Amino acid sequence: MQSKDSKLDFPLETVKEGRVEAFVPRLKSFVRLPSDYAPSKAPVFYNPVMELNRDLAVLALQAYQKIVNREITVCESLTGCGLRGILFAAEVKGVKKVLMSDISERACQLAISNVSMNGLTEKASVRHEEANLLLNRYSAPHIRFDAIDMDPFGSPARFLDSAVRALRDGGLLALTATDMAPLCGVHPRACIRKYGGKPLRTEYCHELAVRFLAGCLATTAARHDIGVDLVFSHRAEHYVRTYATIKYGVKNADESIRNMGYLLHCFKCFHREKVERAFSVERSDICSECGSKLSMAGPLWLGRLFDAGFCDLMENEAQKRKLGFAQKIHKLLAVIRSEVEAPITYYVVDKLCDSLDLPVPPVKKVAEALTREGFQASLTHFSSRGIRSNAPASKIREILPILAKESCGQNQV
Ligand SMILES: C[S@@+](CC[C@H](N)C(=O)[O-])C[C@H]1O[C@@H](n2cnc3c(N)ncnc32)[C@H](O)[C@@H]1O
Ligand SMILES: [Zn+2]
Repeated sequence: MQSKDSKLDFPLETVKEGRVEAFVPRLKSFVRLPSDYAPSKAPVFYNPVMELNRDLAVLALQAYQKIVNREITVCESLTGCGLRGILFAAEVKGVKKVLMSDISERACQLAISNVSMNGLTEKASVRHEEANLLLNRYSAPHIRFDAIDMDPFGSPARFLDSAVRALRDGGLLALTATDMAPLCGVHPRACIRKYGGKPLRTEYCHELAVRFLAGCLATTAARHDIGVDLVFSHRAEHYVRTYATIKYGVKNADESIRNMGYLLHCFKCFHREKVERAFSVERSDICSECGSKLSMAGPLWLGRLFDAGFCDLMENEAQKRKLGFAQKIHKLLAVIRSEVEAPITYYVVDKLCDSLDLPVPPVKKVAEALTREGFQASLTHFSSRGIRSNAPASKIREILPILAKESCGQNQV
């Protein structure tokens, strides 16, 4: 496959995802030290771990196409070896065109080879262009995309303005953020800079990470008189991801800004509360449960993260396909489906037990006990040890010693 001026002068191998076969860098050849992160050492970015991310992206795009019920155009402007864009062209029914691009010439050459290897040259094309430049050229009416997928290494914040402008009214925007250290509060200044909100290192920081990403998208879109609605979000491995539809109009922008607010958290007793309406707040910073000083996260998105119908459509599509991570995807979609109507943030049972010096009862038992007492309780995909509930932290602290004693008793039998 190498011509005289080919830049593909590095070790390659083929991989298969769904119906698609693609040349990718042979990652083993680029690892020198055990600490090396192979995908970013290779001359073209490729991460096998992101297959789950790509599979979910295919399901979400198909769900979206079913909802709009017409042919759609798609842009993947940070394409790497092209695998994601090629999957969209090959696997999603109703896709008319996929435009892929990358700033790296080598990535583009590899993506072009992969498009032709899969016989998709009619449907998919590759441009060697910087993402913001490409998206801005598609920001005029009638040439905008139906769907845009931004899958950067790090934060997508620098592409948001261009992405919302290049989406048509009602379009779908998919965003990955891998910069978990800022989003989860390890580097708070970076979160304030990139996402416009102050993070907190709480046990439910991965949910907050999605909320900072969504908040940044909502405020960016509002500058263009565009509103956003989140239809699906998830966390996996080292990243968070969200899917939002956008709606043109001042009223829609105002409506989505109303979802911006703050979260107050008590590090002493685990109490947390929402402060809605970020831009008209009067708030107390004293914990109503234990009187300690509350810590604040935000402004961030307090609105919904998932849409029930959209999740159901994704699951329907998942059932029809042979997916590399099928089991994982069915399980993830089922847990997320149970989170759709659940309250914001979650309690991490181990963290509470730790603070109370108690052995840890099974998470399921805690959820059952809360339900028995008339509270909402559901699991969360953000943490296998987490429970979403409308019960106050004091109620959970009250039932944990009883459950811990019960589970100790059972262990002794
Ligand atoms: C994480 S990789 C993309 C992986 C790909 N989406 C997938 O699913 O396999 C990010 C890509 O963005 C490209 N990139 C980084 N900054 C860019 C920019 N400003 N414009 C266009 N491409 C850029 C990099 O060269 C890299 O190939
Ligand atoms: Zn408190």
